[in-house]
Amino acid sequence: MAKKTGTATLSFGDKSIALPMYSPTLGPDVIDVTGLYKLGGVFTYDPGYTSTASCDSTITYIDGDLGELLYRGYPIDQLAEKSHFLEVCYLLLYGNLPSANELEDFEDVVTNHTMVHEQMASFFKGFRRDAHPMAIITGVMGAMSAFYHDSLDINDENQREIAAIRMIAKMPTIAAMAYKYSTGQPFIYPKNALDYSSNFLRMCFKVPAEDYEVNPILSRAMDRIFTLHADHEQNASTSTVRLAGSSGANPFACIAAGIACLWGPAHGGANEAALDMLREIGTVDRIPEYVARAKDKDDPFRLMGFGHRVYKNFDPRAKVMKQSADEVLDLLGIENNETLKVAKELERIALEDDYFVSKKLYPNVDFYSGIILDAMGFPTSMFTPIFALSRTVGWISQWKEMLGDPSQRIGRPRQLYMGDIARDYVDVENR
Ligand code: CMC
Repeated sequence: MAKKTGTATLSFGDKSIALPMYSPTLGPDVIDVTGLYKLGGVFTYDPGYTSTASCDSTITYIDGDLGELLYRGYPIDQLAEKSHFLEVCYLLLYGNLPSANELEDFEDVVTNHTMVHEQMASFFKGFRRDAHPMAIITGVMGAMSAFYHDSLDINDENQREIAAIRMIAKMPTIAAMAYKYSTGQPFIYPKNALDYSSNFLRMCFKVPAEDYEVNPILSRAMDRIFTLHADHEQNASTSTVRLAGSSGANPFACIAAGIACLWGPAHGGANEAALDMLREIGTVDRIPEYVARAKDKDDPFRLMGFGHRVYKNFDPRAKVMKQSADEVLDLLGIENNETLKVAKELERIALEDDYFVSKKLYPNVDFYSGIILDAMGFPTSMFTPIFALSRTVGWISQWKEMLGDPSQRIGRPRQLYMGDIARDYVDVENR
């Protein structure tokens, strides 16, 4: 817990209440309002949590004005350039970069957990073939608590650790199975000689009748997508995981809750929505119509893949992702694709148009990741599952951090009640 570094005084009516303040290592000071109701009989009101720090954390830091993202203090662009996803997983989970031996052991243990219980294959078969993979993954992650009884005790540190490794190791297998199921192709077992990203690509794109060689440029781009999405501070899905975990729910149930929250188009579902939007626009000449709609206050339409709650300068993940997109498109020789033309023109307009510039609505990470995943051959319905796969380590790290905090207790927000005051029940014949 942070040390008190100041006092804020809140005055209202005839009351004056002293509230402790704390200074973080980075970011704005916070005012501790936990005693406010007891001392002043009032709640704070912050729908959307724009001014609320819900926990202390040492994992990820975002400076939205500078466009900075740090995992355990390391800038995201350095990690994307020099590290790789499993090393980043270790960093997020344990706080420091691993030594060579620690990394080897960690990679071994993750690799040894990539297969899922064979009976899970039958579980998949209970879903309709046209089910959205996010629906399947949410269900399958929740169902892991019915398959792995030996890692459900949240009070046992060893079990928490095994659950964490299981989820990181099995998410690529589960996501690939959801994809294969939707295409009607047989499931492909993991191949442990491959690295994490290559293994995922192979499980998605190999068919038993043919060989499949993983292209190292595509595997590197995949790894970057995983790295760039691995954690993002107290966003909606992470806060969902923490809230679910605060009640003592088992780890698989908590991560399933996070996956469900991520699915929404304002959050992880934006990558799918962004590409669907580019396809709907279809040709460059139709862009002005959509830009006009995005600016129209009476039209709920938004340019998907643009804007961010925290980044009000640029999204540092988008910068790296744009570079990756260029590499992948170059490798695959995709230049004249109509969707890409629309994307490039939309990006240009949004970076110049006064509406987007003044509201600081830059292309975000999902704008470029959608373009890369599309070029790799993934259907749009797989975009958010890939985000969920990447974010699993972040959710788990945050969940573990929360459970290790001795001051942790159930999350229970209050409300500003605007409903009816107490009234007597009226029998149906008298209404
Ligand atoms: N297109 C057009 N106008 C927009 C957009 C957009 N994409 N995003 C925000 N605005 C406008 C909005 O209408 C509002 O205008 P005004 O001040 O005139 O009312 C202003 O910008 C501020 O918007 P807001 O809704 O108050 O901002 P927010 O912080 O609540 O929302 C957001 C952030 C990401 C939900 C929003 O920008 C959005 O809906 N973007 C599209 C969805 C998207 O790409 N989401 C992925 C985010 S990155 C991945 C992740 O971390 O999950």
